[in-house]
Amino acid sequence: MQTLKFAVLPGDYIGPEVMSAALRVLEHVAKQEGFALSYQIADVGGAGIDNHGKALPDSTLELCQSADAILFGSVGGPKWEKLPPKEQPERAALLPLRKAFSLFANIRPGLLYPDLTDASPLKAERIPNGIDIVCIRELTGGIYFGQPKATTTLENGEQQAVDTMVYKTSEIERIAEVAAVTAKARGGKVCSVDKANVLETSVLWRKTVTDYFAKNHPELALSHMYVDNAAMQLARDPNQFDVLFTENMFGDILSDEMAVICGSLGMMCSASLGTGQNGLGKPFGLYEPAGGTAPDIAGKGIANPCAQILSAALMLRYSFGLDAVAAKIEAAVRKAVTVDLVRTGDIAFGKPSVGTETMADAIIKNL
Ligand code: IPM
Ligand code: MG
Repeated sequence: MQTLKFAVLPGDYIGPEVMSAALRVLEHVAKQEGFALSYQIADVGGAGIDNHGKALPDSTLELCQSADAILFGSVGGPKWEKLPPKEQPERAALLPLRKAFSLFANIRPGLLYPDLTDASPLKAERIPNGIDIVCIRELTGGIYFGQPKATTTLENGEQQAVDTMVYKTSEIERIAEVAAVTAKARGGKVCSVDKANVLETSVLWRKTVTDYFAKNHPELALSHMYVDNAAMQLARDPNQFDVLFTENMFGDILSDEMAVICGSLGMMCSASLGTGQNGLGKPFGLYEPAGGTAPDIAGKGIANPCAQILSAALMLRYSFGLDAVAAKIEAAVRKAVTVDLVRTGDIAFGKPSVGTETMADAIIKNL
């Protein structure tokens, strides 16, 4: 019997609520499909700060190191907002985890079911068939981690700060490969986003991507777009893209734009894949919903668990090689929302809505 060994980091506010729903779904498919789950739960984010003095406690990092994947909830909220930025739960938990496991490839599906177009701020006629795109963001390079990164005092007493955007060809090639593999499994179309009219890193990015695809994936339709234009095109006609991929900070911004045009944050899942292989010879990865901790609805049992459940499905697909089981969970979520019309408040559009556990029950029933 295959045993799936993963670390569970629920985090703060709605994090633990939606995590418990996702674990129920995983327990259910494990029993059905005949595999075993071996997971331990640990504090991260605000819970890490409150219980261990830091957002990524050493014990939590060690647990992650001994696992084959990380199922992450969400972290942060008003309680820790007054801390200096470097110590805040989001930054102080996520950035070290990305660095520690070289989680260089952030995959964010932008999927909006046709039945949920009302959830999108875009006019329905722009997205008659919903939205189905993928944003792939480089996650361990660029201006987030480049050195120097510092604030200094100049001779005249003024302060000056610097961040450094830096990329090597090897970093560009490995994210280009993830984009290519993703595009091959979809429509074969990939758009690389950069700012090659201004930035040196982008000139290198565009050249490296062009050469890499010509050599390794000539059958894919590769295009390039400047990031400012990509921001406009996403809002104008998101489905002109299939797979779009870009460097770290551009991806941070574009993936949030994509999330909002896809309607409810409660439906948005993500995978961050590492360079390393886990004990099963698959990519080690961190899987998290994109929606955040939603402090305003925490503790009420009404948060949408779909994004957390869909993130668990991505974990099965990428880190455990269980593509068919992942697809089954995705289909169960889709049916619950679009056919059974079981919906949490964020996607109910004024119609009667259900709580977190009832939503999870409906998904489990479809399995
Ligand atoms: C994200 C977040 C993080 C980022 C923050 C919390 C450090 O915005 O995952 O997109 O900027 O990468
Ligand atoms: Mg972000």
